[in-house]
Amino acid sequence: MKRIVILISGRGSNMEAIVQRCAGEGWPAQVAAVIANRADAAGLVWAARQGIATTVVDHKAYPSREAFDAALAEAVDAHRPDLLLLAGFMRVLGAPFVQRYASRMMNIHPSLLPAFPGLHTHRRALEAGCQVAGATVHFVTAELDHGPIVMQAAVPVRPGDDEASLAARVLQAEHVIYPQAVRWFVEDRLEVDGLRVRHLDGASQLLI
Ligand code: GRF
Repeated sequence: MKRIVILISGRGSNMEAIVQRCAGEGWPAQVAAVIANRADAAGLVWAARQGIATTVVDHKAYPSREAFDAALAEAVDAHRPDLLLLAGFMRVLGAPFVQRYASRMMNIHPSLLPAFPGLHTHRRALEAGCQVAGATVHFVTAELDHGPIVMQAAVPVRPGDDEASLAARVLQAEHVIYPQAVRWFVEDRLEVDGLRVRHLDGASQLLI
């Protein structure tokens, strides 16, 4: 059984999707802990109700990013993860933290990377006149929202979309591709070659 630790900052709907599919589909894995950098992260309540260990490491309690990252790593390592997942985790992690979990940390980003790294992705996609938007699951590297792409989902931008309607459409797709990517990892179906990730059985890494 592979051990998964999930970092969240808010609602935690991606975390929920992963927990549910992990249990429902009998993956060779368990979500060992959910850790938030805010005590009011709503997802903590849901996770605790499932009997998952929850921890808060409040970034405001530390004098520097280095100190926060060190405390976070300690909280993560207490659960001996094989895989660390960022799921709506809104803190930038320093290079030593990223290095510590190299090749075993994934993130979901609400754009079709490498377009629109950073914040406000839906607003920026609308402003740029994009006809297609989406989400990306990738391994985390020291460069923000960069790193080997495991899976992407593309959704249409519809006439009349605003930030909220586009975000909702993308989020639905996130709930499909993030659990899928994690399942592949825990089943050892992924091979990483530089920035390229291949599924060993050739499964499609694109959802449209
Ligand atoms: C998602 O859109 C994720 O891609 C982004 O933040 C949002 C988090 O949503 N990084 P949730 O907390 O998983 O519901």
